[in-house]
Amino acid sequence: MREILVAGNWKMNGSNAANMELVAGIVAGVPEGEGFSLLVCPPYPYLSAVVAEAEGSAVKVGAQSVSEHESGAYTGEVAPAMLKDIGCEYVIVGHSERRALYGESSFQVAAKFQAAQVAGLTPILCVGETLEEREDGATERVVDFQLNAVFDAAGIGSFENAVIAYEPVWAIGTGMTATPEQAQEVHKHIRSQLAARDANIAEQVQILYGGSMKGENAAGLLAMPDIDGGLIGGASLKANDFLAIAAAAAQV
Ligand code: 13P
Repeated sequence: MREILVAGNWKMNGSNAANMELVAGIVAGVPEGEGFSLLVCPPYPYLSAVVAEAEGSAVKVGAQSVSEHESGAYTGEVAPAMLKDIGCEYVIVGHSERRALYGESSFQVAAKFQAAQVAGLTPILCVGETLEEREDGATERVVDFQLNAVFDAAGIGSFENAVIAYEPVWAIGTGMTATPEQAQEVHKHIRSQLAARDANIAEQVQILYGGSMKGENAAGLLAMPDIDGGLIGGASLKANDFLAIAAAAAQV
């Protein structure tokens, strides 16, 4: 059985005080139960302090992005080994905001994915279509293109230590959640793409859903056979909202 992963992407939010309060609240409220884990991804400046606060708890820590380079003259960038060095276990790569606002190509995302793994981090690879692409019937083609860049660069074996997040762009921050059936359809497709390359790996990979997930809709999404957790933006910014999703995960 795949574990459920409930991951909070805090994006560019909070302050030292607010983010410490947030992680402390989450650590204090981890629901009883098994078969799920929690992850928070704060902005870079707060990572070390959040790692320290979460130490010894069931809450893991990841970053929201990473350089594809190992070290050197890349002003403003953060190397994968640096994230590992300060206690991060995961890193999000290819979030649609990075792709759309900062021009990250699927090839650059694949390079980040590989670099993260080399440093011992677990990449969370985000894929997903825009509303226009969905309306054009291009959802699978778009997702396949994003996945293929990583299959080509890193190989199917690399998914032994990776998570995929399906985040339909039209559902991010809009309050428009994909229905459990809509999400399941794409998750199943993603797993079939993995299975075409390696059936065992396909069975192991956690595929998270992201896009306006919250306490009220989490149970329905998590009940789907190929939805193995969530990557949560807005509802990860208040401990109680995030813990409501964690509680749904604890009951699956
Ligand atoms: P929302 O949960 O705010 O829609 O954001 C989803 C997301 O982008 C997580 O990475």
